Amino acid sequence: MTTHILGISAFYHDAAAALVRDGNIVAAAQEERFTRRKHDPSYPRNAIAYCLDEGGISAAELDYVVFYEKPLVKFERLLETYRAFAPQGFESFRKAFPLWAQYKLHIPREIRAGLGSNFRGQLCFSDHHESHAASAFFPSPFEEAAILTLDAVGEWSTSSIGVGRGNHITLTYEMRFPHSLGMLYSAFTYYTGFKVNSGEYKLMGLAPYGQPVYAEVIADKLVDLRDDGSFSLDMSYFNYCHGLTMTSEKFHRLFGGPPRLPESFLTQKEMDLAASIQVVCEEVVLRAARHVHRLTGTGHLVLAGGVALNCVANGRLLREGPFDRVWVQPAAGDAGGALGAALLVWHHLLGKSRYPQAQDSLQGAFLGPAFSNGEIGLFLDAVGARYEYISDERQLLDRVACVLGQEKVVGWFHGRMEYGPRALGARSIIGDARSPQMQQTMNLKIKFRESFRPFAPCVLHEFVDNVFEMRPNEESPYMLFVAPVRATWRLPLSPENGKRMQDPDLRVRVSVPRSKVPAITHVDYSARIQTVDPERHGRFYRLMEHFYELTGCPIIVNTSFNIRGEPIVCTPEDAYRCFMATDIDCLVLENYLLMKEAQPPGLLQDAEAYKSQFSLD
Ligand SMILES: [Fe+2]
Repeated sequence: MTTHILGISAFYHDAAAALVRDGNIVAAAQEERFTRRKHDPSYPRNAIAYCLDEGGISAAELDYVVFYEKPLVKFERLLETYRAFAPQGFESFRKAFPLWAQYKLHIPREIRAGLGSNFRGQLCFSDHHESHAASAFFPSPFEEAAILTLDAVGEWSTSSIGVGRGNHITLTYEMRFPHSLGMLYSAFTYYTGFKVNSGEYKLMGLAPYGQPVYAEVIADKLVDLRDDGSFSLDMSYFNYCHGLTMTSEKFHRLFGGPPRLPESFLTQKEMDLAASIQVVCEEVVLRAARHVHRLTGTGHLVLAGGVALNCVANGRLLREGPFDRVWVQPAAGDAGGALGAALLVWHHLLGKSRYPQAQDSLQGAFLGPAFSNGEIGLFLDAVGARYEYISDERQLLDRVACVLGQEKVVGWFHGRMEYGPRALGARSIIGDARSPQMQQTMNLKIKFRESFRPFAPCVLHEFVDNVFEMRPNEESPYMLFVAPVRATWRLPLSPENGKRMQDPDLRVRVSVPRSKVPAITHVDYSARIQTVDPERHGRFYRLMEHFYELTGCPIIVNTSFNIRGEPIVCTPEDAYRCFMATDIDCLVLENYLLMKEAQPPGLLQDAEAYKSQFSLD
């Protein structure tokens, strides 16, 4: 008999659904991709409908539906925190309470209503950090691994350590709210003027411009860090337990002023703060990793939770050990909890065996919807687009490689959409990493932003150790490890460029070519790497091979297919709209190739309306 398990995460951040059939991952997707609302936390009705459709089943055939955390325990935390800080926290409690009263305390009712009366299966709830841990260990390639989860907060836990063996995970230690690495990092995200819960990656990208001059102050005043990576925060510096902001007046006094206003000029202070909190974050992660290594004695580590998206820290873990191999769940944030919860039901509740796969069982994270050439053709005809249909893959890839080689920007849409926050070659905008203008072109003409961060590279996996300081064949298929570009690929700084590296405007600094692949090289020579291999990446790998044959370069730029503030495109329609509203030169929708200059004038006149509908991230 077949067992279908649906995992759901929702009502806080990044709602998602995942379907597991007899232990195999059938589908997983985030709600934001369907509703076109970034980080959409609402009940994931579209993601669920997609998962059921992909599995060819209806809600009636679901044996289990599992929610990724325990709402009542979370509510208890809210109440106890309020009580501990009363009457101070009344405002924040008053703001949070209506949502709880309306939805969060009635999640079973919400889920049952969403699934309809056909659903007769069992509804269960897993623990937030257990869901993260399960999402990290169960799909990993390891029979045995140490587990580390790090995020802002679940019910009470903010991080946990443990071990996974065979089909079982055991979490042995947890850190509890309000002491939280995720919250600490977000406090600095807030203070430096970025958006909490989405701007953390910008803070990480800002760090290479700064010096960690505040690291000691943070260690002295804010964080009491122990050898095992656990710590307590001096809560008088923070406001998130009882206020509507992350940091307190005392924090602002310590760092010499109020938080930076969003979108205002970035000064050396923000850069130094970014570098400082990054160093502290890395120290916590490294200490916790060493500790869990001592406890478990295993050579493998798996990671999940929002902090596991800190790929600079992950890169250090990989290089500095003590683990031989590290595997990170690509949907490391709460979206991944949906998958973890579903796998927990299969392996823990039902006690079913687990068979780790050589690469992992996540199928490259390509777990979302795909669209056939037939569907795409119908759509393109309906909107009057001009295209070429190239049925022969070799011919198609030759064309695209040529277009890339001419420094043109390509929107690449192929196969199943990615699960998790990164575009990994299914919904990507790609370009030539050797081009000194590519970083700026992609930012200004496509993303409609000016960014101080370089883009991420895709590298043919067999070249990873040639270009980057990584071991031969070391994998980073989910773009979750940062590593330095090797000295042989770096460029010396001319005196003139040395001067430009002092420019107060970071966009001037990032435009100084640091390597033979400047579009992907940060000012400290680091890069956020995605390795591309034939098994996981299929046609995308073959495209990169063609580009390599043509140019001798095993690297391309890969950024998510969207504009600033927009969720990554899901359907051919989303992709076409983004193509037409931006300066993307060429769009590839499966075997259809569209050049911008060939499109009839007047199509998509609502470009401005499209661009303005997404708020800044
Ligand atoms: Fe979480």
